[in-house]
Amino acid sequence: MARRPKLPTPPVPSSLRPAPPRPGEGNGKVRPVDHAAEAGTAVVDWVDERTSLSGAGRWLMFRKVPKGTNWFYTLGSATLFAFLSQAVTGVFLAMYYKPDPSGGAYESIRHVTNEVFLGQFVRGMHKWGSSVMVILVFLHMGRTFFFGAYKYPRELNWVIGVVLLILTMVMSFTGYLLPFDQRAYWATIVGVNINGTGPLIGPYLSDFLRAGPEFGATTLSRFYAIHMLLVPGAIVALIGAHLYLVTKLGTTAPPWQKVQVDEELRKAQA
Ligand code: HEM
Repeated sequence: MARRPKLPTPPVPSSLRPAPPRPGEGNGKVRPVDHAAEAGTAVVDWVDERTSLSGAGRWLMFRKVPKGTNWFYTLGSATLFAFLSQAVTGVFLAMYYKPDPSGGAYESIRHVTNEVFLGQFVRGMHKWGSSVMVILVFLHMGRTFFFGAYKYPRELNWVIGVVLLILTMVMSFTGYLLPFDQRAYWATIVGVNINGTGPLIGPYLSDFLRAGPEFGATTLSRFYAIHMLLVPGAIVALIGAHLYLVTKLGTTAPPWQKVQVDEELRKAQA
C-alpha cells in the first residue's frame, strides 16, 4: 500500500507566538511573571546587601562531591527531612495537647484523633514519622560506618552523630508516654526502671526522669518538657554542628573508588 504523504504541522497562531524583542528595549511588554521574578530578586538582594548571607548559602549548597557518590549519601538528608517533619507535625499536636495526668492528656489526644480537622492524619504522621526517623538514622549511621566516614578527619562528626542517635532515642522514649494510656504508662515504668539499672548514673537518671523517687503527677510534664523543648533544641544545635562539619570537610568517597594517582607522582614513587 502506498504511504500517504505526511501533512506539515500547522503553524503556531500569531497570538501565541512571542513578539520578537526590539534591540535594546525588549518588546516593551512586562508580564506579571517578570514583575514577580524581579520582586523576588530585589528582596534577596536587599537582604544580601545587609547580611552577605548568600556567600554562606553558596558555601553550604554548591560543594564538590567525590566521584562515586550514590543514593546511600542521601540517607543523612532523609533523616534531616524526617526530623523537620516531626518538628512541624509536633507543633500542631502541641496546640491541642494537655500534659495533665488526671485524664486530660488522654482526653486531649482522643480529641485530636477523633474531632480535630486532619487531627488523626497529623498525629499519624508524627507517630509513624518517629519510627521512620529511627530507621533512617540507623541506616545513615550504617552508611557512614561501612564507607569508613568515621575516620580522620571526621571523628568529631561521628561523635556528634552518636549523640544525635541517643537524642533521637530519647525523643522516642519520652514521646511514648504522652498519650498516657495503659500501654504508655506501664511501658514507661519498665523503661525508667531499665535506665535505673545503669552503672553509676543509672539511679540518678531514673530519679530525674520520674521527677522524684516515684512515678507521680509531675512525671508527665517532665517527659513533655524533655520531649518538646530540651531534646529538640539540642538536636537542632547538633544538626547545625554536624552539617557545618560535613560542609567544611566534604564527604568521603566510597571505599571502592580507585584513587587516581598523578602520573608523575607514580613514576617518582616507582
Ligand atoms: C538526626 C540525625 C542525623 C542527621 C539529620 C544527619 C545528617 C547528615 C547529613 C545531611 C550528612 C551529609 C550527607 C550524608 O553523608 O548522608 C551527614 C554526614 C555524616 N553523618 Fe550524619 N546525621 C545524623 C546522625 C548521624 C549519626 C547517628 C551518625 C553516626 C553515629 C552520623 C555520622 C555522620 C558522618 C560520619 C558523616 C560524614 C559522612 C561522609 O563524610 O561521607 N550522623 N549527616
